Order: sequence, then C-alpha cells, then structure tokens
Amino acid sequence: MPEKPAMEGEVYFPSPETIAHANLKDWDETAAFARDNLEGFWEKEAEELEWFQKWDTVLDESQAPFYKWFTGAKVNIAHNAVDRHMKTFRKNKLAIIWEAEDGKSERTFSYYALQREVNRMANIIKSMGITKGDRVTIYMGRIPEIVFAMLACAKIGAIHSVVFGGFSVDALQGRIADSESKLVITSDGSMQNGKLVELKRIVDDSLRHCPTVENVIVVKRTGHDIPMEAMRDHWYHDLCALPVANGKCATEVMDAEDPLFILYTSGSTGKPKAILHTHGGYMVGTYTTLKYVFDLNDEDRFWCTADPGWITGHSYLAYGPLLNGATVFLFEGGPAYPYPNRWWQLIERFGITIFYTAPTAIRALMRFGEAWPNKHDLSSLRLLGTVGEPINPEAWKWFHRVIGKEKCPIMDTWWQTETGAFMITPTPVVPLKPGSGTRPFFGQVAEILDEEGNPVEDGAEGYLVLTRPWPSMLRTIYKDPDRYVKGYWSKYPGKYLTGDSARRDKDGYYWIIGRVDDVIKVSGHRLGTAEIESALITHEAVAESAAIGLPHEVKGQAISCFVQLKPGFAPTEKLSEDLRQHVSKHLGPIARPEEVRFIDKLPKTRSGKIMRRVLKARAQGLPEGDLSTLED
Ligand code: PRX
Repeated sequence: MPEKPAMEGEVYFPSPETIAHANLKDWDETAAFARDNLEGFWEKEAEELEWFQKWDTVLDESQAPFYKWFTGAKVNIAHNAVDRHMKTFRKNKLAIIWEAEDGKSERTFSYYALQREVNRMANIIKSMGITKGDRVTIYMGRIPEIVFAMLACAKIGAIHSVVFGGFSVDALQGRIADSESKLVITSDGSMQNGKLVELKRIVDDSLRHCPTVENVIVVKRTGHDIPMEAMRDHWYHDLCALPVANGKCATEVMDAEDPLFILYTSGSTGKPKAILHTHGGYMVGTYTTLKYVFDLNDEDRFWCTADPGWITGHSYLAYGPLLNGATVFLFEGGPAYPYPNRWWQLIERFGITIFYTAPTAIRALMRFGEAWPNKHDLSSLRLLGTVGEPINPEAWKWFHRVIGKEKCPIMDTWWQTETGAFMITPTPVVPLKPGSGTRPFFGQVAEILDEEGNPVEDGAEGYLVLTRPWPSMLRTIYKDPDRYVKGYWSKYPGKYLTGDSARRDKDGYYWIIGRVDDVIKVSGHRLGTAEIESALITHEAVAESAAIGLPHEVKGQAISCFVQLKPGFAPTEKLSEDLRQHVSKHLGPIARPEEVRFIDKLPKTRSGKIMRRVLKARAQGLPEGDLSTLED
C-alpha cells in the first residue's frame, strides 16, 4: 500500500476495495503520460473505437482557436455507440432500461433491439428528405425514443438540436428558428410529477413562426387528445408501419470534424448560443472520460439522472455509456414523486451500481430525512457522481454517508456544454475533498488568472481558464464564429475562458466558486438573464427589467427579477405573481422567478448597462460597492 500523502483540509482516501476494482490504478502515471504527450494520449484512446478511415493528424492547431481533431478520419458516432457492439456478446446485453414515472411500464432494449429502433427511426427521417447536415429539433420527455432520435440523426449525418422538455414556447421557437430545422420530433405529452405537460401543443404554438419545418413526428406517450395538422404531423407508430421503416439504414460516412449536434445554452449576453460538437472528437472525449472517471465495466448499471435536453444527458446518458457498451438506466420522472424514496427504490430494484446526479437533487432529498433512503437496500452502488454546480460539503457528506454508505467515492465532475466532457474531475483512485472536483482530467491544464492574465496565488480567487485543447471541445457557435472567438478566446488569447471563477489550493485541487457572467444556475439548469428579461418584456406592464441569481438553499441559485413598470401600472402582489407566471408560460417552468420586485429605476452605467452587481448587493442587504460609474 502506498503511503497516504499529507494533504490540506478534509480528505477522503480511496478504500483498498475501490483501488482493487479500479480499471485505472495509477493516476499519476497516466496524467504524466498525457501531460507530456497530449496527442499520443488521445490517439491511444481513439484507437479503441472503430473508424472507417484513420486520421492523418490527431490535433490540427493551424487555425486555432478553430482546433480540429482526427482530421482526415472517417467515422460515425452512431456506428460506435450501437453497431460496433453487434460483433460481441454485447449484442444481447441490455443497452437501455427504462421506467415510466408512474412505475406502470418498463421497457428494456438490448443493443440488438436498440440497433433495430435506431434503424427504424433513421429510415423514417431519411424518407422525409432529411440528409447530411440538415437540422432536426428533438423535443421530448425522458423516454427511450429521445435517445433513438438522437442516434438516428447521427446515423444519417443530420445535426440534432435537442431542446429540454421543460422549456416552453419562446425558448423552443427561438431554437427551432435559429437552427432552421426541417423536422421536429416530439411526443404528444410528457408526465411530470403526475401532471401532463402538453409538449405537442407547445410545438404547435412554436411552429407558427418557423417556416423551415416541413414535418413533425409525434411519438405517442400520454395518449391524450391532440390536434394533428394534415400533411405536417405524423404519428410515429403509423410511420413505423410503413414499408420504408423496415430494414437496415445505411450509416453515413462522416468526416471526424463533421457536426454531430448543436445544443443551445445561455451565454453572458444576448440570445442562447448553439454550441457545436462533432462526430470524431466528441466521441473520443465522452468515451474516454466516462471509462476512466466512472470506471465502467460490463456488469455495471449506470444511471445518470440528467435530462437528455442538457449536455449531461447528451454525453453521459446517451453517447458516453453506449460508446462504452454499458447498460444505461433511463427514468422518466423526478426524485420525489410520488414519494421522496422514488430514486432509492429504483436503485434497489434495478441494482444500479453507478449513480450520477446533481447537487440540487441531493439537497432536496436530504431535506426529507434519512428514513427514506434507509428503507432501501442500496448496496449495489459502488460509485457516485455529481455535476452542474458546486456541491456544498454538507450535501457531499450526506450523499457519501447515507447513500454511498461510506464506501462509494463521489466523482464531482466539473465541465460545461462547451467542453462536451469532464474537464476537472477525480477518478475513483484519487483522494477526495468534499466540494472540490480535484484536478484536471488527463491532458488538461487549468489556470486561475487575474484580470490582466497573471496566475493568482494558490488560495486566491480568479478566472478559471483551460490552456490545452481537448477532443470534445466545442468547435464553434453555429452560424456565429465571431461570437465563439470573442466569447471564449479573446480575454486571454490562446486560453479558453470558462466563465467560472475558482481557486486552487496548495494540493493543486480546484474549487469552483461560480459564474462570473450573467449565467444563472437554477437547480443546475443553465439560464441566461437575457432570456428571462426578454420573456418579461413581452408583458404589457413591463418597461424594463433585470434578472439576477441569488443564493438559494436547495436550488443553488434562484431567479430574482427587478421590474420597472410602464406608466399606468401599479406594483401589486397580483402583478408580481402574474409576471412570474408569464415567464413560466413563455420560457418554461424552470425559469419561473422566485420573486419579482418593483423598482422605480434600474441602476445603470452611463453607457446604459444594467448594474446587476448593485442589484445583487441590494437584494442581499450587502454593501453596494463602487458606484462611481452609476448613471445618476
Ligand atoms: O459554473 C459551472 C457549473 O455549470 C456550468 C456549466 O453549465 P452547463 O453548460 O449547463 O453544463 C452543466 C453540466 C456539465 C459551469 O460553467 N458546473 C458544472 N459542473 C460543476 C459546476 N460547478 C461546480 N462544480 C461542478 N462539478
């Protein structure tokens, strides 16, 4: 046994059992190899997957920051996630286990069955004239068809744009219009905490202003009555009965750098940006990170509670696990419906071995007390993980003790829509500190810089940047390369600006503090102040508004809005509630403000920029700081 290193603060060392089980035992050795030989490290990983043609160059930096990976290679991620497994015993292994929110139905798919489903969906969307490079919007709840749809698009080379089913008309419409999608794949509805969400109706409302959409495929999930527009709308089960749906669909041979998907996410200003990922690099990044960090083996049952509408669902519910040939558990519902033991019950019932979730869910479930998880046998678990926001040590320890029974290491994975895969994360053999994502993943170097770009001292807060390219990095913002360069590569040329502030301790462990821009993280969901403000401004009473994020015990951050009313409107409790409802209806229930406050005049700089910093301080009763740039 190597001696435990002396480290600062509270440290949890891996148990001998964890070390014995881990596929990767020597973190230092792999880290040193990747540090000295970045391309060699990624090339070795890439070789574990199947390529129709090998690359000429691993990393092409000639047009940085438009980095390219595996140039010259021909590949398709769907081939690797599905078809590749037909040659092994995994053909008969479970790929997806799905359970409905109400627990009344359960569906399972072997890799063989998954292949059939993907072929079927691919045949159908191809028959609708969708070809390589076309955009397809996918808007569904957590049902297996959402994964089939993503893989089907990938198989024929179409670019998918998944929109989270918790978003509403404004968000969906903006994303369909910006992507100029020709096809929308949706379901009649979805179930959320026992309530029906009318997805298809939201699609109908959104399509009033989206002329590019020619067809809508509707998967029957809830079975309630919905209007179907002749020629445009098609039931998926009807399409499946057509001869065209049968048989294998040819897999499109893609360049490694061809787009795989776009995913809209909120930035510092303006409308959401479409982050673009590619077939080759994204495949290698998600495959490798999941393999090492969650130590996947064939006997595992991996459950990532994220929704496919966010990057975590893309990388670690759909692509990463399937690329690894793992068994994925997909649950339609949330953690506490009908009772707060729902998740624990599922872990027991399905023998989940690796459980990956968000701090906000842990905090919410903690509140219900230990009796709920203690009713269940959670002994199948061997690894836990968190993502999306900083985890407070109290929640970490609860998760570790009550759910992991002090034997499951917690992988606190820091990453972003833009990074595609884990960037700062432990692996099971790394000593853990509650609240820290530990160190950068193999091949990555993270720095913490001051305003001028100088590294700050250990312990001090600064801007978190990544200094080395990685395969699953975003390639650009779809249709807006300038915004890509300005947003990520201009503040410190040659270094990727994450938008987070962080500090590093003397053991080289990173501690994320939070966003430094106008992004709000509500229950781990990434929302932009601009989106919330644009929803508010469409209300007749609103002259101007500003949204900010305030600390919240369970959600991490909660949305607080300051509203300046138009003349003739009075600031009443009812109006405040109406405005909250308005945002929920237009943007989505996840964006519903916690509070709306009325203000006579928003604090602005002389150049007209809203000083959110001042509002934040005011809302929390903190000193308002330097007000010299204030307009008046
Ligand atoms: O602020 C960081 C926070 O989530 C942001 C990225 O959000 P999104 O693109 O929606 O992706 C979330 C899932 C990968 C980051 O800039 N964040 C993500 N993971 C962590 C985190 N903050 C602290 N700890 C984490 N593990």
